[in-house]
Amino acid sequence: MLITFEGIDGAGKSTQVVRLKRHLQELGREVLTLREPGGTEVAEHIRELLLLSKHDIAPVAELLLFAASRAELVQKVIIPALDEQCIVILDRFSDSTTAYQGYGRGLSLELLAEVNRIATFGLRPDITFYLDITPEDALIRKFSEKSLPLAFDSEELDRMESSGLEFYRRVREGYLALFESERDRIEMIDAQLSPALIHERIVSRMTRVETLQQASR
Ligand code: TYD
Repeated sequence: MLITFEGIDGAGKSTQVVRLKRHLQELGREVLTLREPGGTEVAEHIRELLLLSKHDIAPVAELLLFAASRAELVQKVIIPALDEQCIVILDRFSDSTTAYQGYGRGLSLELLAEVNRIATFGLRPDITFYLDITPEDALIRKFSEKSLPLAFDSEELDRMESSGLEFYRRVREGYLALFESERDRIEMIDAQLSPALIHERIVSRMTRVETLQQASR
């Protein structure tokens, strides 16, 4: 089973990934958690280029670098783990590309669909948890967690995060559009709820997905 987490930076995905992993392990399941971009030697190099460098990267090149990192991870790690009946939890997957490179950078959605299809080898998540938050609230959260003054040009922000508030507004619109078009796969949760309540919602949806899957076997 492939589970993905999505949302703009600062939505609180990583906390929920950890909690869900612990929950599933307590039920005796084999679980692998990964985050994109990265996860293989080459993909980690691509991550550095994409996030840590301050290079100005052309939007199509950025798209292809995220896709290259994903193709590495899918072929070398995700597909083998799924073949071993492992539950794979991914912090970001192809919806990030649609939201960030499509809606955020303005690349054609047809081009994105094609690149996503190639990079994922056609793999589709069984369930996606989208944690919804406004970019303003996400920024406030990020800076208050680190006790830093709120500044849009802060050194604390990586290359993607330095793209500005307007960019993040478009990214969020992208996620909301994805949610509207794929409600069967995507569960939207208000990221401002308490972490415990968000976890509860995730577990309850997981139980429904697993029951459905068992019934269809
Ligand atoms: P990361 O440090 O993993 O942040 P987060 O905790 O928010 O997931 O950074 C990943 C960044 O890369 C994030 O800003 C989203 C962006 N991204 C894309 O633009 N396209 C993609 O396809 C993926 C996977 C990530």
